[in-house]
Amino acid sequence: MKEDEKSYARLYVDKIKAPPIRSIARFLQQGSKKGTAASMADKAARLSVGGVEVDLPVYSPTEGQDVIDVGKLTAEGYFTYDPGFVSTASCESAITYIDGDNGVLLHRGYPIEQLAEQSDHLELCYLLLNDALPNAQEKEAFVSAIKAEAAVDKRYQHAYVSIARDAHPMGTMCSMTASLSAHYHADLDVDSEEDRMLTSHRLIAKMPTLAAMTYRHSQELPFVAPRPDLPYGENFLNMMFSTGDDYEVSPVLARAMDRIFLLHADHEQNASTSTVRLAGSTGANPYASIAAGIAALWGPAHGGANEAVLNMLAEIGEPGNIDQYVNRAKDKDDSFRIMGFGHRVYKNYDPRAKVMQETCHEVLNELGVDNDPTLQMAQRLETIALEDEFFVERRLYPNVDFYSGIILKAIGIPTEMFTVIFATGRTPGWIAHWKEMVSVPYKIGRPRQLYTGSGFRDFVPIHER
Ligand code: CMC
Repeated sequence: MKEDEKSYARLYVDKIKAPPIRSIARFLQQGSKKGTAASMADKAARLSVGGVEVDLPVYSPTEGQDVIDVGKLTAEGYFTYDPGFVSTASCESAITYIDGDNGVLLHRGYPIEQLAEQSDHLELCYLLLNDALPNAQEKEAFVSAIKAEAAVDKRYQHAYVSIARDAHPMGTMCSMTASLSAHYHADLDVDSEEDRMLTSHRLIAKMPTLAAMTYRHSQELPFVAPRPDLPYGENFLNMMFSTGDDYEVSPVLARAMDRIFLLHADHEQNASTSTVRLAGSTGANPYASIAAGIAALWGPAHGGANEAVLNMLAEIGEPGNIDQYVNRAKDKDDSFRIMGFGHRVYKNYDPRAKVMQETCHEVLNELGVDNDPTLQMAQRLETIALEDEFFVERRLYPNVDFYSGIILKAIGIPTEMFTVIFATGRTPGWIAHWKEMVSVPYKIGRPRQLYTGSGFRDFVPIHER
């Protein structure tokens, strides 16, 4: 839409001290239903548009920015317009909080750095699903429940036969995850908390198994069954690379694998999680909804960035070419971007990237390749970009994907599998959001649009066109 075609609405926030009674009641009803600590702020917003004034309630979250409830605008004949959901909270959630300006990421209130240092992936999965850290007994029971669900039915082994060996593993993961719905559908009651929890356990348990099967299928290798005696990260590496009984996983690599899963576990309403919520909001099968999330994750602007980082470093080739690529990234007429840099929410260093960088050094040190040229180039690129005015002005910092690919490559995981690892790690976040949504009354997700097509016109018969 051209600038001269736009008319403006005026929004006043904090002008009205008494929010409309009906709105408070609605808010309190929602708040108590979901047991949240959010509260009605002592302010409201007044939108003045086309001579009409509309009072809108403002909600205060437990952390972060106030939110204006625009729900009643539709009754006044208006929708809001926010392509890319840049200023839109699509739902209420109590799982994860991000303060992008200060580089803070909290899961159920706990900072990611402390979780990465003192916890492990399965403990975080429990936290995401239950809103509390488990005690020793609860943790043991949770770990056992996950291990008990790790195997997939024999029929899935046959299903792989129909998939080409050179298929992209994200496409394979999408299909195999969706096909779990064939197994878990008729008896699944999404209104039962027990069934929702069992579904969550199954997905967290089976995703590494499917990921490893996807890799081994592409390599024409026989599948390796999950081993209940091994921890989550180690079991995954064993299913990926075991060549027999004497295969042993280095504890440093097992810990790094677990940490990579943990660092990807959840990130509030990102594109894939929002996709899972949207698909799930129609009442779709949760396994199919997670498959939709995997599809959304695949692209290079989201989870596919880890694969794109390594491809980019390979394309740059040598440190002498970095300046040329940085200049390309700055050129408006060139679509090239520095992959693993920038984030919609973080306008400061991504806290996951910091932990990932440390893990990267640990892994390369363990493998005796700490002078790895790819790492050196990544570090050089990071230093140059962080000092460049273009990146400084736009507050573009390395994100979680900048270093994860280097670790995964060092562990021996092929580039095409990187986003599958992200999907495996993100599964608890996806399913925790699905569970949170379907555990209370919810609405189907149904955005509206700013229509710019033809106005009404009469159909023209084919012989008159
Ligand atoms: N390299 C060069 N310029 C960039 C980059 C980059 N990686 N990212 C953003 N910009 C520029 C962009 O050109 C724009 O400049 P201008 O204001 O002059 O038009 C400005 O920064 C804002 O960019 P945007 O595209 O409006 O920002 P966004 O919030 O819509 O996009 C992003 C966020 C992550 C898609 C984007 O930063 C990007 O494409 N990064 C590279 C891909 C990547 O690493 N993705 C992984 C994200 S983290 C993992 C995950 O959560 O999935």
